[in-house]
Amino acid sequence: MDWGMRNRIARMFPTGSGNTVMLAVDHGYFMGPTRRLENARTTIAPLAPFADALALTRGILRTSVPPESTTPIVLRVSGGATILKEDLSDEVITTPIAEALRLNVCAVALSVFVGAPREHQTLKSLADLVSEGEATGMPVMAITAVGKELEKRDVRYLSLACRVSAELGAHLVKTYYCEGFDKVVESCPVPLVVAGGPKLDSDRAAFELAHNAIAQGARGIDMGRNIWQSEHPVAMIKALRAIVHDKATVGEALSILEREKKVAPTPRPRAASA
Ligand code: 5RP
Repeated sequence: MDWGMRNRIARMFPTGSGNTVMLAVDHGYFMGPTRRLENARTTIAPLAPFADALALTRGILRTSVPPESTTPIVLRVSGGATILKEDLSDEVITTPIAEALRLNVCAVALSVFVGAPREHQTLKSLADLVSEGEATGMPVMAITAVGKELEKRDVRYLSLACRVSAELGAHLVKTYYCEGFDKVVESCPVPLVVAGGPKLDSDRAAFELAHNAIAQGARGIDMGRNIWQSEHPVAMIKALRAIVHDKATVGEALSILEREKKVAPTPRPRAASA
C-alpha cells in the first residue's frame, strides 16, 4: 500500500486506540431532510470537533462544512435512488474519484446491496471504484446497505455482504452490528465499522451496540441518528468516544453522558417527530 493511501487511512484512525468515531451525516442523499439533519451545517458544527471523520456527500461538504475544517472526510460517492421508490438498490457512482481527490478527502464510500435487485450494478461499482482508488491512493469503504429491509441484518447475511465487499477490494467496510458479530469480524479481512441504524429506544441501547461491536472486533463506529437525534448530541458523541477509544463500559459511558449534559451546549428545542 502506497504512502498516500496509508496516510489517508491513518488520518481516519488516529493513533492511540487505533479505532475511529465517524459521524454519519449522509442520510439526506436518499432520505431528504432527515429529522434533526434538516440544517446540516447546524447539526455538524458542534459535533465535528469530536468526530475522527465526517461521512457525507459532496453537496453537504461544500455547503455545510467550512474549508478550514481539519476533520477528515469520508465522501459518499453513490446514490441515485430515494425512499420514494421501492428499490433503493438502484445506485450508481455519483461523484468521480478525481473530484474526491480535489476535495482532499480521506476515503470514498459507496453502498453495496447484496441480494437486492441491483446487486450486480452496485458490486460492479465497488470493484471499479477500488481499481480507481488503488490507482490514486484513495481508500474505499463499502457500506453493506439493506435499504428498507432492516430485518436482513443477521450474522449470515452480514458475513456474506462484508466478505464479498472485502473480496472485491474494499479497504474498509461499514456494516451493522448483529447477534454473533464476532463471526462477521472473523471472516472479513479488512477493518469493520458499524452504523447505528434508526434511533434506538435508549441511550443505553446505543452504548451497548457500540460497546459490543468494539468488544467483538469492530474498529469503530460510523453513527448518525443515535447521536444527532439525541437531545444532547455533543454529550452523546463524547460518551461514545470513551467506549470506542478508552474501553469505557456502558455504565461509564452513561456517567459521562450525564456529566457532559451539564457542560454541553443547551439542548435544541424538541422538533416535531418525523
Ligand atoms: C445512510 C448511511 C448512514 O451513514 C449509516 O446508516 C449510519 O448512520 P446511522 O447510524 O444513522 O444508521 O449509510 O445511508
